[in-house]
Amino acid sequence: MPVKIAPSLLAADFARLEEEITRVAPHVDWLHLDVMDGHFVPNISFGIPVISSIRTATEVFFDCHIMTTNPDAFLPELREAGADQVTVHIEAVPDPTRAFERATQNGLKCGLVVNPGTPFEAIAPFAERCDTIVIMSVEPGYGGQAFMPASLSKVEEAREWVENHGLGADIEIDGGITPENAGSAVSAGASVLVAGTAVFRADDPASAVDALRRAADN
Ligand code: DX5
Ligand code: ZN
Repeated sequence: MPVKIAPSLLAADFARLEEEITRVAPHVDWLHLDVMDGHFVPNISFGIPVISSIRTATEVFFDCHIMTTNPDAFLPELREAGADQVTVHIEAVPDPTRAFERATQNGLKCGLVVNPGTPFEAIAPFAERCDTIVIMSVEPGYGGQAFMPASLSKVEEAREWVENHGLGADIEIDGGITPENAGSAVSAGASVLVAGTAVFRADDPASAVDALRRAADN
């Protein structure tokens, strides 16, 4: 399966969102949207009204990474705004059963995210319900942080679990991804690469996406 590239809009110029999105969208598989509440993580990014506005700019798949204390509270509104997938943190919802049910009822794909300090075992019991399993390779809250190489063994664990149980989940790695570490992330088993800074802070975001894709393929 080809690796999916999912630029994180968090690193884009928020004054020019439409332009930022339309110049990368034709080159990417997903757009990664980081929703933060200033409570689950120590930062506030953007929410439903912004997602709804940018939905008019592109048809690309919206992968919404929900970093809020109550991630299941707004699932219908997120779908209405144009989200295609929501991923929620196991640290926020230790039992994600209800969140998954609500996501599915609302036509959303869904997944679970684990922080660097949380073992893979925390999400393993729910892996079969996940369309995507997200391994954080930085502490959530901010873009532009250094990649944590220790996350690669967790990607390997997730890949092994998915293969051993015959599951179809994507394995996404999020944080500090560059062309330098993209290859090792894919070798460890990642099928989705999230990259904010490496794409939107590049002089030419479209070529930055191509560079990630080449690194992923090698
Ligand atoms: C961090 C976010 C990431 C981040 C990735 O909380 O979940 O998606 O924006 O950005 P970079 O690639 O800059 O680490
Ligand atoms: Zn993210």
